[in-house]
This record gives sequence, C-alpha cells and structure tokens, in this order.
Amino acid sequence: MLKTKFTELAGIEYPIMQGGMQHLGVPQLAAAVSNAGGLGTINITIYPEMEDFRNAVCEMKRLTDKPFAVNISLAPGLNMGEKIHQYIDVCGEEGVSVIETAGRNPAEFVPHIKEAGIKLIHKCAGVKYAKKAESFGADAVTIVGYEVAGHPGMDELGSFVLINRVASSVSIPVLAAGGIADGKGLAAALALGAEGVVMGTRFVATNECTIHPNFKEMIVNSSETDTMTCQRSIKNMARYAKNDQSAKALKLELAGAGLDELMPVISGKLSQTCYRTGDTQGCVFAMGPAAGLITEVKPVKAVIEDMVADAGKTYKKLGDILG
Ligand SMILES: Cc1cc2nc3c(=O)[nH]c(=O)nc-3n(C[C@H](O)[C@H](O)[C@H](O)COP(=O)(O)O)c2cc1C
Repeated sequence: MLKTKFTELAGIEYPIMQGGMQHLGVPQLAAAVSNAGGLGTINITIYPEMEDFRNAVCEMKRLTDKPFAVNISLAPGLNMGEKIHQYIDVCGEEGVSVIETAGRNPAEFVPHIKEAGIKLIHKCAGVKYAKKAESFGADAVTIVGYEVAGHPGMDELGSFVLINRVASSVSIPVLAAGGIADGKGLAAALALGAEGVVMGTRFVATNECTIHPNFKEMIVNSSETDTMTCQRSIKNMARYAKNDQSAKALKLELAGAGLDELMPVISGKLSQTCYRTGDTQGCVFAMGPAAGLITEVKPVKAVIEDMVADAGKTYKKLGDILG
C-alpha cells in the first residue's frame, strides 16, 4: 500500500496508472494492471462499434473486481463528436470509475462524465492546460513531459521541470508521465509533487501486453537514445522508436509533407498489422526513452511490485543522506 491523493481518488493500492495505448489498451493488459493494484486502462479507439466497447468493459469486469479507466481520445483528426457521448453512456451504465481524456480540451463532455458519476483525469502538456483542466472540473491531470511515448506537447519541456511546475500550480492531483519505468522514477515523481505516475513504454514490455514479442524485445534492446520526434510542423508532435518507418515519416516531413501525405506512413492501421505480425520496421511505434531503463520483459505484477519496493529503497537511501 502506498497512499496518495491519487490512490484515494481512484480507490487503488499503488499510485501507478497504465496510460491509454492505441491497439494495446485491451482487457488482458489493463486487467492485469488493476489486479496488481494499479489502474489499468482500455481505449475506446480500439472499439469503433459500441457493442464491442461494451463487451470489452464487461470483459474487464469479468477479469478484475478492481477499478479501471477508459481512455477517450479527443484528437481532432478522430472527429467523433456525438459518439463520445455514447461511450460515456456505456461507461456510466457499466460502472466504469475513471475516464482519461487526451488530445484536446474535454470541457464539453465534463457535465456528462460528472452526471455519470465518473472521475475525470485529463492528460495534457503544460501549466496553462492543467489550470484550465482544473477550472472545468477535472479531478486530476496527467502531465506529459517531452520524454513521453506518443504525443508530447509542442513546448519540448522535460518531465522534471514540468511536473514540479504543474504540481505547485494546481490543487488537484497531478500524475507524472514520460520517462518513468522504475522505482527511482516513481520516487522522483512523488518528490516533485506528483501524486502518481502514468506509464506506457514499461507496460508494453510485459508478458500480458498483446503486442508481438519482437516489439517487446525492441524495447529491451533499446537505449535511451533510440527514440525520435517528428510531426512538429503539422502541430501533432509525436515520439516514436527510431526505425525505418519513423525515418521515412521524418524525411517526408522535412521535405514539406502535410498530414495528408504523412498519414499513409504514420497510420494506426499499419501499426495494428505490424503489432500482430512482428514487423518492427514497418510501422511507427510509440516508444519513450524510458526504454533505456527497461532490461527485461516481465509480468505486470512484478513491474508494479518491483517499482514500489525500489521506490521504498530510494526513500530510505535519501533519508540516510538527508539524516
Ligand atoms: C504503444 C503506445 C501507444 C500509445 N497510445 C496512446 C493513446 O492512444 N492515447 C493516449 O492518450 N496515450 C497513448 N500513449 C501514451 C501513454 O498513455 C503514456 O502517456 C506514455 O506512454 C507515458 O510515457 P512513457 O512511455 O515514457 O511511460 C501510448 C504509448 C505507447 C507506448
């Protein structure tokens, strides 16, 4: 047990959340995280049909009796509008306890989420967005640093400064995301004022993640220098593993390509196929430099237990230093 405002808010044992992950945030992984005392997350984008989404939520409830979250991506390109309300309805009807929004300001959906009795964690990338989230009623914010896998903010601010700044600028709990994969990272995030951490890359390299083992090995074999960013020019900054496909995307971008031209290269459909076949070069793959801290594929439960134990050792060491 490690008690913070986030564990109290979410009703969980440890302040560790698995962030939403396109194609990978499915019950097999998310339930393992919740069962291990963290907060697992499934993604609506994996379930375009409402019936499939409801089935996934029911599958979560079959696999765990612990709280879990649903990631609702509001990325402008997805254009889901009214359909988001249907997902929120299903969450309310099925007793989902937490919704994680990302991509843009979720203000228009907040009254609906609140009426359904669901806690809202909004993922964003800076002090002004966190303050806005607090003002429209978010229960917590996840702050993504530049190290984050997927979409960091446009300001290129590392987690270290950002977490510290946001934690002293809002009064709702702050979760730290980007570059955290072990107990030292958890201890550091809490020391900076966060009430918990959100991880992606670390949870991909687990036994329960459904991605092809080639990608898990890629994470284990990567160092902290093996990621890159692109899509700045189209205001959709993304951090990927360095591979043939991300090199292709960057080359196109530097040659002046817009979203339409980039889309066939960065497409989620390609990732979906490659995640199944194990072709690690044929799609862009969201991965953070936290990969440099990951040395083995292990069960989710071991990831969480080792993190908590190591965070304890880190605090003991700091206690000895500080006296
Ligand atoms: C493969 C992968 C897919 C991701 N897809 C999404 C997504 O669909 N929506 C989202 O909000 N975040 C997504 N993320 C970001 C994670 O939720 C989390 O914020 C991030 O991975 C934390 O940084 P870390 O990888 O350094 O732990 C993804 C991350 C990974 C590794």
